[in-house]
Amino acid sequence: MHETEWYDLFRYYEDRAPEYDDIYTGKYPGISQPGIYTKDVAAITSICGGHGHGHLIDVGCGTGFWLPHYANNCEEITLIDQSGRMLERCSERVARLGHPIKVNYVRGNFFQLSFKAESFDSAVVAFLISHLSEEQEMAFFEKVKGLLKSKAQVLWIDGAWSDIRSQNREKEGIQSRRLKDGREYRIFKRYFTDTDIARILSAHAFDPLRIYMGDVFFAVRAGLID
Ligand SMILES: C[S@@+](CC[C@H](N)C(=O)[O-])C[C@H]1O[C@@H](n2cnc3c(N)ncnc32)[C@H](O)[C@@H]1O
Repeated sequence: MHETEWYDLFRYYEDRAPEYDDIYTGKYPGISQPGIYTKDVAAITSICGGHGHGHLIDVGCGTGFWLPHYANNCEEITLIDQSGRMLERCSERVARLGHPIKVNYVRGNFFQLSFKAESFDSAVVAFLISHLSEEQEMAFFEKVKGLLKSKAQVLWIDGAWSDIRSQNREKEGIQSRRLKDGREYRIFKRYFTDTDIARILSAHAFDPLRIYMGDVFFAVRAGLID
């Protein structure tokens, strides 16, 4: 991805932070049927409840929307995001939980950050891979795999490609996004079918263990093949 594309993506999420969670309640969605979003969120929340152990890394954590559902399973959580405003909201969410868990906040571009090899037991990556080109996806999985211990599990949540989605969006490409106040951003985004998900996981040596395919979102728990 070129610097200018990162810049627009990074700026978009920094500016969107205050209204980001609205999507999960069906407000300001790409599809005007809020129930579709809440149905998928409920199903994915339940998958989150069975995910995570030991030290978990959440890459592109945003406001930490999924965190309350997996936090109880972990001993330590490292939350990474390039956006300071997203991390701020995430830390407010963690504080509201009143959970005694150890949480580390890391602000920066994941691709440029350094962590100790094989230091994480589990991972979450939600709505980040869909912003990566195939080349970036390759770099992402290589980096994540280097950080994970043997037999680690990853929970990948992202945008599903479905009949409903296809009425509103292109499957892949530079797409326009607007904030409530009308500001417009051009970002790369792609959506995934179950075939895409299986192909990507297999290409990066992950074994799908459980999958939920919704109309707008999907979640897959996958284990690292040793
Ligand atoms: C679509 S949001 C998803 C937030 C959260 N994971 C969720 O599911 O609600 C994507 C997040 O990834 C962050 N992000 C995108 N590219 C990143 C990168 N290269 N390094 C770190 N964070 C990144 C953005 O700032 C944004 O907060």
